[in-house]
Amino acid sequence: MVSRFWILCASSLIFFLAVSSAPTVQGQLFDVRNYGAGVDGRRNNALAFAKAWMEACQWSGGRSTVYVPPGIFDLPQVMFTGPCKNPVTFLIEGTLLAPRSPDAIKGDAWIIFKDVDYLTVTGGGLLDGQGSYSWPHNDCDKNSSCRPLAINMGFMVVKHSKINVLHSLNSKMGHFKFYAVEDFNVTGVTVTAPGDI
Ligand SMILES: *[C@@H]1O[C@H](CO)[C@@H](O)[C@H](O)[C@H]1NC(C)=O
Ligand SMILES: *[C@@H]1O[C@H](CO)[C@@H](O)[C@H](O)[C@H]1NC(C)=O
Repeated sequence: MVSRFWILCASSLIFFLAVSSAPTVQGQLFDVRNYGAGVDGRRNNALAFAKAWMEACQWSGGRSTVYVPPGIFDLPQVMFTGPCKNPVTFLIEGTLLAPRSPDAIKGDAWIIFKDVDYLTVTGGGLLDGQGSYSWPHNDCDKNSSCRPLAINMGFMVVKHSKINVLHSLNSKMGHFKFYAVEDFNVTGVTVTAPGDI
C-alpha cells in the first residue's frame, strides 16, 4: 500500500506514537566524524554526512550504520539516496541544526531520504529546524499561494523502513513528510512546535 501523508504541525503538539528500546549499532559502523563532520561550526557537514551515507549505502558486507555521535552538528540541506546494497541504520544521537535562512533550503525538505529500502532512522537525537528564523516569512494564514517552507525530514519512495525514537523541534513549516512510502513504521517520535505559529 502506498501511503502519502504529512505531519504538519501548526499547533503545540507533543506526539508520542510508542516507546521503544535503546538503539544498538548494527553491522559496519560509518561514523560521520571519520568523513570530516564536526561540531565546531566550520565544517561542511552535509558533505561529510553524504560521504558517510554513500559508503554505508554501498557497503556490500552486510548491514551498515551511519553514526552521528552526541554533539550539535550544523547541517545544510542534504539528500541521502539509494538504492543501497544492504539494510542501513541511520543512528542519530546528537542534534542536527538546520540552516537558519529559509533560502538555504531548495525544495520541500531539509533532510531527505530517497529511493531507499530497509532503512532505520533511530538514536533518540534531535532535528532542530531553527524555525523561528523563518516563521516571519510564513504568511500562509492569509496568502493561499504562500511560499512553502521546509519540512525537517522527508522520505520519498522508501520501503520496508522505520523511524524509531527521534525528536523533531521547531521546523520551518512541517516535521515529517512521507511520499510514496510502503511498509513504513513510525515509533517513539516526538514533535515539539509552538502553539502560536
Ligand atoms: C503570497 O506569496 C507569494 C509567494 O511568496 C508571493 O509571491 C505573493 O506576493 C504573496 N501574496 C500576497 C498577497 O502577499
Ligand atoms: C511494521 O509493523 C508491522 C506491525 O508490527 C510489522 O508487521 C512490519 O514488519 C513492520 N515493518 C517495518 C518495516 O518495520
